[in-house]
Amino acid sequence: MTFPAGPGLPLTPTGSQIADEALAGVLGRTRFNIELRLAKEHTTSELARLLGVSNATVSAHTTGLRSAGPITTVRAGRAVLHQRLAVGALLVQSREVLNKGAVSVVRCPPTTAVPLGGPEGVPMTTPEHLGEEVLTGGGVNHVVRIGSTVRRPVGPWTRTVHALLDHLRLVGFTGAPRAHGFDTEGREVLEFLPGHVADHPLADHVRSDATLCAVTQLLREYHDATVGFVPGADADWYFPGREPAEVICHGDVAPYNCVFRGSRPSAFIDFDTAHPGPRIWDLAYAAYRFVPLTDPDNGDVTLPVEEQARRLRLLADAYGLGVDDRAALTTTARDRLEHLVRHMHAQAGAGSTAFAGHIAAGHDSLYRTDAAHITRHATTLSTALMRDCPAP
Ligand SMILES: Nc1ncnc2c1ncn2[C@@H]1O[C@H](COP(=O)(O)OP(=O)(O)O)[C@@H](O)[C@H]1O
Ligand SMILES: [Mg+2]
Repeated sequence: MTFPAGPGLPLTPTGSQIADEALAGVLGRTRFNIELRLAKEHTTSELARLLGVSNATVSAHTTGLRSAGPITTVRAGRAVLHQRLAVGALLVQSREVLNKGAVSVVRCPPTTAVPLGGPEGVPMTTPEHLGEEVLTGGGVNHVVRIGSTVRRPVGPWTRTVHALLDHLRLVGFTGAPRAHGFDTEGREVLEFLPGHVADHPLADHVRSDATLCAVTQLLREYHDATVGFVPGADADWYFPGREPAEVICHGDVAPYNCVFRGSRPSAFIDFDTAHPGPRIWDLAYAAYRFVPLTDPDNGDVTLPVEEQARRLRLLADAYGLGVDDRAALTTTARDRLEHLVRHMHAQAGAGSTAFAGHIAAGHDSLYRTDAAHITRHATTLSTALMRDCPAP
């Protein structure tokens, strides 16, 4: 961690919280509070809730702390956790000692305080990260924009995903970012797509029938564009391929991975979870997210089951779904959620603290509740899907 040059920590002599004030003076109040809270690892959302600030604020400050040294952020599966590093622990320990008055304090006038990286509300930056704009909204990875590019952390699957993105451009599909290789920090470089990415609570235009149909048509175009893609022998995917491998599934088609130009969905982002698989596997998850097929007690969109059934039919029609797949769509949506729950538990069992945290926070039971909701209303949903269609 780099401290500002000069006479040292701007300690002030007042009261028992002397070192707290000193550290807060150097780090900034929010960053100081984050450092304290990271006695235990936390996600961005957990920190935001604990500190009573927005996710964006936490994101900005954890970025600064990470650049300066006292914390790190690790990816575990689909989640990220902020963790205090040894140097951060030292800071907090010395503060505790100082607050107990166990050591004498070198005092400097408060005017010497130079907040590390700027005043509260402004993320700390190191010179190499100047000009980077943190893109929040994903909630999993630390994603930044530099000019017309986006930089994201890589995984074993990234090269295969880049080959897929190259292929999409080659065949003229424009609803995905171009891949531009890797930067000197080892991050992937992608084309920045103008527009806005949807977030919860979803805007009305994201919940409209027009969007449901347009997103589904975009997914159909994407699937069709992947048909000729032949992954290399060394291809690595986040999820193992599923049979029948008709297309390359995006793996996480949801409003939070969809770019809108005005009110029109124009592209998908975040292809980390792409993998070969059946069309319906991807479509079922898109249906879960965009119809949406959530239990009325879950999420921010409450739709009566009849309305969910009507919109599910719209989606199937917009995709041009065949009769057999229509008959299987409802159970596939349930299977897809159960697969997600199993994945969370497998990752947690393999030592992922992030997934363990999600399970502790009850995310798996939310998905289970939604899966049970789909099962409970399978007849209503399937009837709408199959009306006026020949029997499979
Ligand atoms: N290619 C892109 N063009 C424009 N914005 C992007 C792009 N990729 C990511 N973003 C922005 O960064 C945010 C997080 O990106 P995403 O790749 O979905 O991260 P995560 O892996 O955390 O889900 C998105 O909500 C979006 O605002
Ligand atoms: Mg994402």
